[in-house]
Amino acid sequence: MQNYEIQSDDWARLAADAKPIREQVFIQEQHISPEDEWDAQDAIALHFVVYLAGQAVATARLLENHSIGRVAVLKSQRGLGLGRVLMQHIIQLARQQCRPEVKLSAQVHAIPFYQSLGFYVEGESYLDCGIPHVDMRLQF
Ligand code: COA
Repeated sequence: MQNYEIQSDDWARLAADAKPIREQVFIQEQHISPEDEWDAQDAIALHFVVYLAGQAVATARLLENHSIGRVAVLKSQRGLGLGRVLMQHIIQLARQQCRPEVKLSAQVHAIPFYQSLGFYVEGESYLDCGIPHVDMRLQF
């Protein structure tokens, strides 16, 4: 992987870089409606953006309730390990903040990705925005 950098900050500072990624991945690629994609949590979440050779290529957010969400890597940059380093960065930060756990609502296709990071599945799958999801948790 080329040189990458991860920045974490509030929405006011990272929206310009995170928004186009989420628009491309969730709204255009996965056909999630803008009304579902943009919610009130963005204003209060901690956001993360991965820059590869200076270009914003991946993003995610962490909520106060220890929930990680909106994990997205641009299609052209998948399979390079960027999703993994982004998740590892968030998990490490959550540990440093003495959070008891991190959790997420995973799209079913991404279960192996999160399992490889230590998350385990909880309960049955359900539909959210028409996409099968399952709850996953990583306890510290
Ligand atoms: N299904 C199964 N395994 C997957 C996977 C998937 N969809 N995506 C990644 N993996 C595996 C990789 O094979 C790799 O395993 P390895 O280290 O043993 O080779 C590991 O997970 C890490 O892969 P990585 O290259 O870091 O993943 P990525 O940068 O491609 O990012 C996603 C993974 C899921 C974030 C990315 O595919 C994505 O943005 N998808 C569209 C948006 C989305 O669905 N987000 C998840 C919402 S819950």
